Amino acid sequence: MPSLSSFLHLAALVAVAVATPNNGTASRTETAKRATCTVNSVASAANLSSCTTVIITAFTVPSGQTVTIAAASGASVTMTGDITFAKTTSAGPLLTFDTTNIVFNGGDRNINGNGAMYWDGQGTNGGVAKPHPFVKFKGSGTFEDVTVLNSPAQAISVGTTAATTISGITVDNSAGDAGALGHNTDGFDISASSVTLAKVVVKNQDDCMAINSGSNIVIEDSTCSGGHGISIGSIATGKTVSGVKIARNTVTNGLYGLRIKVDADATGASVSNVTWEANTISGITEYGVLISQSYPDNDGTPGTGAPISGLAFNGGTTTVSVGSSANTLVVDCGACSGTWDFSGLHATGGKGSIIAANKATISGGTY
Ligand SMILES: *[C@@H]1O[C@H](CO)[C@@H](O)[C@H](O)[C@H]1NC(C)=O
Ligand SMILES: *[C@@H]1O[C@H](CO)[C@@H](O)[C@H](O)[C@H]1NC(C)=O
Ligand SMILES: *[C@@H]1O[C@H](CO)[C@@H](O)[C@H](O)[C@H]1NC(C)=O
Repeated sequence: MPSLSSFLHLAALVAVAVATPNNGTASRTETAKRATCTVNSVASAANLSSCTTVIITAFTVPSGQTVTIAAASGASVTMTGDITFAKTTSAGPLLTFDTTNIVFNGGDRNINGNGAMYWDGQGTNGGVAKPHPFVKFKGSGTFEDVTVLNSPAQAISVGTTAATTISGITVDNSAGDAGALGHNTDGFDISASSVTLAKVVVKNQDDCMAINSGSNIVIEDSTCSGGHGISIGSIATGKTVSGVKIARNTVTNGLYGLRIKVDADATGASVSNVTWEANTISGITEYGVLISQSYPDNDGTPGTGAPISGLAFNGGTTTVSVGSSANTLVVDCGACSGTWDFSGLHATGGKGSIIAANKATISGGTY
C-alpha cells in the first residue's frame, strides 16, 4: 500500500506538471506527457511516443526511408511546412499516421509524393515500381486540411480502428491526366468502421473513394473529378460493407459516378444498407450508377457469393447526367434481395438502363 504522504507527493507532482504552461521547450524534463516535439527530418520522427504536441516543419524524405507519426494518445499534430518525398525504392505506405485520438491539422500544406517521377500509365499493374499506398491513416481521431499531392499510385489508405473524421483534405493528382500517365491513383481506400469523410476534394484517375470493408461510414459534401467516382468495393472474399451513407457529393467528368463492385468470385462477403442522398453526378462516360457482382467486368456474369441488400436512393434527389455512350443505371446481380427505394434517383442521358436485379425489387426513380 502506498502511504498517504507518498500519494499526496505524487498528486502534487501531477498538479505541478499540469499547471505548468507548456512553453514549447524542455517540457520533456518536467513530465513525459507534456512534450512539444518538432519533426523536421526522418530521424526526428523516430520516437514521438511522449509527444502530445507535434509540429511538422518542411522537410524532405530521402529515398529508402519512410515516416511514421506515432505520438501520444490525444496528440495534436500540426504541419507548418510541406513534407516532400524523393523518388524512392521503399514500399508504401511512405507516410503513416498511427496515433490514437489524433488531432491532425495539415495547415493547408502539401504531402508531396512526386508522382510524376513514377507515372508511366501502368499504375500498380506493371512498369515502374510505385510505392502504395502513399499515405496511411491508422489510429483514430480527426484529420484536417492537408493536400496530398501527386501520389505515385493509390493516395490515402484509411485503416483507422476507432471513430475518425477526415475533413477538408485534398488529393490532387490532376497532373497525372497529362498523357494519361497517372493510373490507379485512388483518392481514399477505406477498410475501417466509424469513419466520416466530409468536404474532401479528389482530382485523380481512379476511384475517388473506395470502401473495401467496414460499417458506419459516411461520405458527405465532397467533390470528385476525373476519376471513377464513389465506390463500394471491390468486395473480395470475406469482406463485409454495411451501413454507408453517401450524401451531397459532386462527381464530375469520369468513367463512373456511383458504384458497387463485387468480385465475381467473392464468397463469404456482403454489401448491405447503403443510402445515396442528394448527390450530383455529371459528365460520366461509361456508367452513371453501376451495381455489379461481376467485377472485374462491369456487366458480365455475376457471382452469387457476396449478396447485396438494402440499397436506397432517398432523402434528397441524386441527379445523374451521362454522356451519349454511357448507361444511366446498370444493375448486374447474381444475389440481390429486398425492396430498394430508388425514388431519389433521377438519371438522364446516354443509352438508358440495363436492369438484372435478381430477387431485388427496385421501386421509384427515373433512369
Ligand atoms: C520554458 O520552460 C522551461 C522549463 O520550465 C524553462 O526553463 C524555460 O526558461 C522556459 N522558457 C521560456 C522562454 O519561458
Ligand atoms: C521512446 O521515448 C520514450 C521517452 O520519451 C522512452 O521511454 C522509450 O523507451 C523510447 N522508445 C524507443 C523505442 O526508443
Ligand atoms: C444503416 O446504416 C446507417 C448508417 O448509414 C445506420 O445509421 C443504420 O442504423 C443502419 N440500419 C440498419 C438497419 O442497419
